[in-house]
Parts: sequence; structure tokens; C-alpha cells
Amino acid sequence: MKAIEIRNKYLNFFKQHGHVVIPSAPLIPENDPSVLFTTAGMQPLVPYLLGESHPSGTRLTDYQKCVRTNDIEEVGDNRHLTYFEMLGNWSLGDYFKEESIQMSYDFLTKELNIPAEKISVTCFAGDEDCPRDTTTAECWKKAGIPEERIYFFGKEDNWWIAGEEGPCGPDTEMFYDTGKPKCSEECNPSCGCGKYVEIWNNVFMEFFKDKDGKYTKLKQHNVDTGLGLERMAMLLQGKETPFETELFAPIMDKLLELQKLDNISSRRIVAEHLRSSMMIICDGGRPSNVDRGYILRRLIRRMIRHMNKLQISLDELSTLIDINVENLKEMYPSLEKNRDTIKNVILEEKEKFVKTLTKGEKEFVREVELIKAEGKNIIPGTMVFRLYDTYGFPPEVTEELAIENGMTTNKEEFEKLFKEHQEKSRAGADQKFKGGLASTGEMEIKYHTATHLLNAALKQVLGTHVHQRGSNITAERMRFDFSHPAKMTEEEKKKTEDLVNEWIQAKIPVEHMEMKKEDAINQGAEAMFIEKYGDIVSVYKIGDKSFELCGGPHVSNTSELGHFKIKKEESSSSGIRRIKAILE
Ligand code: ALA
Repeated sequence: MKAIEIRNKYLNFFKQHGHVVIPSAPLIPENDPSVLFTTAGMQPLVPYLLGESHPSGTRLTDYQKCVRTNDIEEVGDNRHLTYFEMLGNWSLGDYFKEESIQMSYDFLTKELNIPAEKISVTCFAGDEDCPRDTTTAECWKKAGIPEERIYFFGKEDNWWIAGEEGPCGPDTEMFYDTGKPKCSEECNPSCGCGKYVEIWNNVFMEFFKDKDGKYTKLKQHNVDTGLGLERMAMLLQGKETPFETELFAPIMDKLLELQKLDNISSRRIVAEHLRSSMMIICDGGRPSNVDRGYILRRLIRRMIRHMNKLQISLDELSTLIDINVENLKEMYPSLEKNRDTIKNVILEEKEKFVKTLTKGEKEFVREVELIKAEGKNIIPGTMVFRLYDTYGFPPEVTEELAIENGMTTNKEEFEKLFKEHQEKSRAGADQKFKGGLASTGEMEIKYHTATHLLNAALKQVLGTHVHQRGSNITAERMRFDFSHPAKMTEEEKKKTEDLVNEWIQAKIPVEHMEMKKEDAINQGAEAMFIEKYGDIVSVYKIGDKSFELCGGPHVSNTSELGHFKIKKEESSSSGIRRIKAILE
């Protein structure tokens, strides 16, 4: 049975059992910066599991696009995926264990026609937080699973929570017996040898775990279930891996055709990461150096590395994307709509990475030969750091290259250097304001103080949305970039100029002080890159006009500045204006 048929059967089955089909939430969670990607069907439903009423009622079902990235490094084996689809059904204070189990049993045995004897189940064994779940075991027996295929395990196997805090509860997992021989006398669904494959998880969510680890009962009992679509398709099609199902077959075949060097693991990595990246881009993700963007960057870059390993030209990327769009558009119509965007994003990232790679890999090979010649097999953290710092070579790529060379990297040392580097760049940002000023003459110092006055004046004239976005000072003039959506009128320019001159004439002393960053912020200090400062900050105060984090130096009294004149006001970039001004 094809994946899309499984999906349709699932949604129909639960619809027939009174559930409303709700749409998949985007992969990038709305209003939840705490998680990188949607990792389970329940995630967008948390408020409703906690008791808020859902507009579609108390019985819901959907297919949810999910990305889990803890195991990126594992992709390439026969089962790990970063992107997958989770089929789910929910009871929000509606049915509970018995009905949930009966429906699962019926769906598996009657809709998917899985022989009952291939199904084993596990239940929660009980502990101080929650008693042994004998009810669930009884329900399974009633449904048709004999006692010898019902197992009990503790929290590590049969308790489900997304992360550390939130709605949770004991679960019951269903396993498919592949028919492989037992790995030992004790072989059971939790042993992970591959005989039993987990196919569905029903969580009986009636608890809430708070951040101190305390469990309380929720207002209502919920059921949250998740069935991995790729895995189910694999089992029903009698395949050993999801890469052999129709979801991946076209792309895997094409990779096989294009490759000049054979490597099954690399083909899987390319196929998996391409699909995952496409889905993330489709939902608005873009590569960057932080958080979600970094994950996407890693996926794309890892894929490219493995195309290189297979010796497949990167010019084929566009064709590979087309193959995936064609193959998956029935399941995900948005892939077709976003085809061009997907291509642009991936190809642009490719360009960036190719530059980095060529340089870094050369360097890596050169250094590794030296290390090997010394009979060593650990790559020092200093080298990992240098590749990162000088060539922008991601540490995880170095790690992977190391493993391919039968080596490891000194991660601890790298981490230490990386931290030091971060602290240094933070200190560097503190210095930046001195930037170009440390060795400067009187004029630059005057201009520097003038930027503070201009910043304050713009806020008064245009509004508090004005923030400094950059500045550049020479002995002849100053340039000041700031956030403001529109061109300044002549009147606004005149007002600003007048204000600055008024303050110069008022002979206001410029005070310097050092204080805790927190206090400075609380007192409303202006700062361009607040996160880049250390705990103790240098602050300059000009009467009640200006109060800014800054390394200085400054004049000691505004009267030293002379006369301030705006020469030009223009656009710098989108939403950013630029003023050029002089002191005369
Ligand atoms: N939320 C449960 C899981 O992800 C169903 O396994």
C-alpha cells in the first residue's frame, strides 16, 4: 500500500469514528520560538490538551509534517529520517483508553490488514508518579491481543512527553513483528534488535509535568497518538528501509544512475536531506547561522558533501529537486507551488558552500596526512577551530570527515576554543565603538559625541522607533544609519539639526560610567547590539538627552562640538535611513 493510501485510509477511518480532519500545521511552529520545528502531531495542539476548547471539537485527526533533528548524524542508516509524516488522532477530554485501543486495533487489522498475530504491545509498568497501567493491558486483551504479546516497561519506554515540561502520560506502543528470529531468549519489543518495529504510539495524556519535575493531573484526560507514515509504508510494502518505498524510490534510482562512486549510505543521506530541506523551505525556512536556519544549512550542506562523495555533479541538484516535486506533489501540493523558491534557496546555499568546501577540504587533507604520519588518530580541537574560523568549515563536517578517515576530533578542545572566541568577539563589539577612534584625533572624538546627540534628537523628532544601525566617522564628517521607514521631510531635518545645536549650546557635560548591563538596560540605555556586551558595560550620559552603551571616547562637554549641520539624508537599505553630517 502506498503512503498516500495509508494516509487517506487513516483520515477516513477516524472521520468515520467521529473525528474532524484538521490541516497539518506548518513545520515551523507559529508563535513558539522555544522549538525549532514541529516534532509531533500534538505540538500545535498543546493548548487544547491543557483544556482550551478546540473549534473543531473533541475528536480530531490529521497528518502532521514533522522534523526531528537530534539524529541528523544517524541518517544514512536503514531507518533514520529527519523529515517524516505523523498520522494522529486525538481525544480532547473525549474517549479514553478502551475506545482508543479498540480503534487502533481495528485500523491495523481491518483497514491495513495486518494479521493480529504480528502485533505486540507495550504498557506502562508503573512507578511512584503513576500506577501500573493494567487498564490498558485489559483493553488490549479485550480487543484481541493475547497476554504473551503484552509487555510492561517503565518511563524510558512507556511514558511520553515533548521535551521536559508539558502535558504527558503513560503510553502504549504497538509493534510489528517482522518475522526475523529473536536476538536472544529475552528478545522483546524494547530491545531494538529489529525484529519488532514500533508502528504506533497512543499516549494517555492526563498529567502535566512542571519545570521542577512535579506531576499533576490535567483537567481532562486526553489521547494523543502518532503513527509514522514512512515506516508503516515500508512494513506494508515488505521493504527493509523507507528508502525502498515509493516515497524515495525515484530519487534513489536517479542517484544510483548518476553516481560514479557507490555508497548506499550517501545516497540515503542525499535523498533524505533533500526531501527534508525542500519541506522546510516550502514552509518558509531559510539557511542561516542560527537555530532553524542553521539546521537547514546543515541539511543542505551535508547533502552536498554526500553528492560529492558519490561524485554526482552539483549541476544535477535542479533535476533532483524536480524529481522530488513530481513524486511528492500529490502528498504535498505546496511543493509544486514553491518549486522555484526551493530551487533558488538550495542553489544559492550550494554556491556558498562550494566555496567553503573546496578550501577547507584541501586544508583538512593536508593536515590529516601530517597527523597520520605521526601515527595519531585524533584531530586536535585547534585544527577543527581553525577550519571553522578561517574557512567557515562547519565542525560537524570536520567530525564526519574525521570518522571517514578512521579518526575522531577533540570536541572538548574545540568547544573551549569556540567559547573563548565568542567571548573575544563580544569584547570586540565593546571595542567597536572605540573602533577607529582609539587612535583618533580630536575631530573624530567630537563626531563620536555628535552621533549620540543626533541619535537622541532623531528619537525626539521622528519617534522612539529610531535606533542606530551603524555609523562611520572620519576627521571630515560623520555618517549615521538608523531605523526609520520614510524619507525625512525638510522640516524634520531642520528640527533635528536645531535640537542638536541647541544641546551643543546648552554646554551639557558628558558623563562616563560603568555599570551592570542589566541596570543600564533597566534605566533605558540605548544600545546597538546589546547581546554583544559583557556583564559590566561602559555608558555615556549627556544630561537627560542621551544615555548610551558605548566604549567612548567622547568630549567632556557638548560645547566643544561647534556647529552641527546635516548635509544629506538618504536611504541606506530597506527601512534604514542614512544621514551625512558635519561639524563646522
Ligand atoms: N506524541 C506521541 C509521539 O510523538 C504520539 O510519539
